[in-house]
Amino acid sequence: MTNIIELAIQEKVYKNKRARLSILNNFNLEVNTGEMIAVVGKSGVGKSTLLNILGLLDRNYNGSYKLFGADANKLSLSQSAKWRNQKIGFVLQESALINSLSIEDNIKLPLLYKSPGDSQRSTDFENIVSTIGIEHILKKKPLECSGGEKSRVVFARAIIMNPQLILCDEPTASLDGENKERIISLLFKMNQEFNTTIITVTHDQEVADRHKRIILLERRM
Ligand SMILES: Nc1ncnc2c1ncn2[C@@H]1O[C@H](COP(=O)(O)OP(=O)(O)O)[C@@H](O)[C@H]1O
Ligand SMILES: [Mg+2]
Repeated sequence: MTNIIELAIQEKVYKNKRARLSILNNFNLEVNTGEMIAVVGKSGVGKSTLLNILGLLDRNYNGSYKLFGADANKLSLSQSAKWRNQKIGFVLQESALINSLSIEDNIKLPLLYKSPGDSQRSTDFENIVSTIGIEHILKKKPLECSGGEKSRVVFARAIIMNPQLILCDEPTASLDGENKERIISLLFKMNQEFNTTIITVTHDQEVADRHKRIILLERRM
């Protein structure tokens, strides 16, 4: 298999009683396994919607989508849930941590849903934690952490299963230069070591430029 993603959207429509909004018109995307892609574009153009579709969170659009060689719109709900847990790492802007659990348990949460027969290996917890510099907060609860710390924890949780595809929505938005660099280098490391495919939505030109391919999303009818 060469293409991990073959997406052809005719349109995505958001509708309410008063208005109808059509976005991602005639948007096509083919991604090879192991590519690193940045998605840029103005606010409201549909970047987060695109990530939701790519990450199997939204099937409500006109178009076709092949992921890992399978028709994504024909997957059973349990199959797509399994893929979201094991094959796709999702770093969402509003990803929530569980406040009653420690940071360590939050990061390890996806491992709980792994069934005993699943052979896929997870990435090394200690390695992730030290690379992104959160050793000192492992025993803390989310409410005791800063915004930048929490966004690094969300990132760690998204990659703990060593997913084949990582989708990031503004992963560095609330981070200073040093921590931004930690996230980017970890993405690169995963890409090099495991040939992980990475798609990053970003407003940060410096972050975008570190990816090998940049896609500009624009409004068109
Ligand atoms: N659930 C929704 N219902 C109605 N409109 C929505 C919904 N989600 C997003 N939109 C609209 O769709 C457009 C694209 O949103 P989004 O994908 O979040 O853009 P971006 O991430 O590029 O800023 C925006 O105009 C937004 O207001
Ligand atoms: Mg967005």
